[in-house]
Amino acid sequence: MLQVKPVPPERLPALLRRMPKAELHMHIEGSLEPELMFAFAERNGMSVPYADVAALRRAYVFNNLQEFLDIYHAGTLVLRVEQDFYDMAWAYLQRAAADQVLHTEIFFDTQTHTGHGLSAEVVINGLHRACVDAKEQLGISAALILCFLRHLSEAEAFEALEQALPYRDKLVGVGLASSEMGHPPEKFAKVFARARALGFRLVAHAGEEGPPAYIWSALDVLKVERIDHGVQALRDPALVARLVHDHIPLTVCPLSNLKLKVFPTLVQHNLGRMLEAGLVATVNSDDPAYFGGYINENFTQTFAALGLNAQQAYQLAHNSFAASFIDASTKQAFQHRLAEVFETFE
Ligand code: ADE
Ligand code: ZN
Repeated sequence: MLQVKPVPPERLPALLRRMPKAELHMHIEGSLEPELMFAFAERNGMSVPYADVAALRRAYVFNNLQEFLDIYHAGTLVLRVEQDFYDMAWAYLQRAAADQVLHTEIFFDTQTHTGHGLSAEVVINGLHRACVDAKEQLGISAALILCFLRHLSEAEAFEALEQALPYRDKLVGVGLASSEMGHPPEKFAKVFARARALGFRLVAHAGEEGPPAYIWSALDVLKVERIDHGVQALRDPALVARLVHDHIPLTVCPLSNLKLKVFPTLVQHNLGRMLEAGLVATVNSDDPAYFGGYINENFTQTFAALGLNAQQAYQLAHNSFAASFIDASTKQAFQHRLAEVFETFE
């Protein structure tokens, strides 16, 4: 690991913004900004049940994950045609590229949208077309991960997987999202086994609000390669030892944890302790339109709150590439660009 030159605290935000990084945990539906939501509603002949953008933003106050998911789900009602998915993803990809994200792995689900009468085809083709254009026009690489909704049944997850199979080559993996408590990973054992047999890469949200036991079963029953969130892991030293030993990455989302009251303040966030424990932690935005910031905002606010340093910034960015599903040579090339930025930063 590169030994990074010390950087004075007032220069750290500039370094965090400039450093190349990968984003591995963001839900594209959670990047739908209120302005775009009103624009889509208008062109689709619908209405948003808030007076204006400011009134909608004022409603973004949550006490837990479920309160957020209810509002988030209501926001997806304005997504009706392929172009909506394209425009939403394009807006996110532009912001990510501006934040020096070289590679992003985007979560989406089809179950929300098929529940509104849309086809999986409309969703996947719109998102994928934006990813292709972003590679060409913005130079950012993007991959799609289909999330199953864990508050629904495993049979419904199987149905979503089947509907996505004609578009298999547009997807890199599957994940597990939505209401965690009461919906343990093992509920989805069979569908994850099927996805694994089909060659999908596997991730799952676990230990966001839920107990360490859910992280154990995501690893041992679902056989996931990364844990999304995983901040509750520190409650279980044997689990931490396992995650460190197996180099299992954790896609941490500090502003999400703050807004959903997983931690009362950012100062109390355990990201610094995760790094000290040797965990392969990364920083991500989760649902940036709802949680007050894209990836660079997550980095700068968390570093300020926790007093993290340039060496830790390098570690987190290095981890983000290591934990990604890109091929080994591209990974190395990105990590080389990362080292260069740190070596030449003044
Ligand atoms: N879907 C969107 N954001 C989520 C989160 N933070 N946890 C679980 N499911 C989600
Ligand atoms: Zn998430």
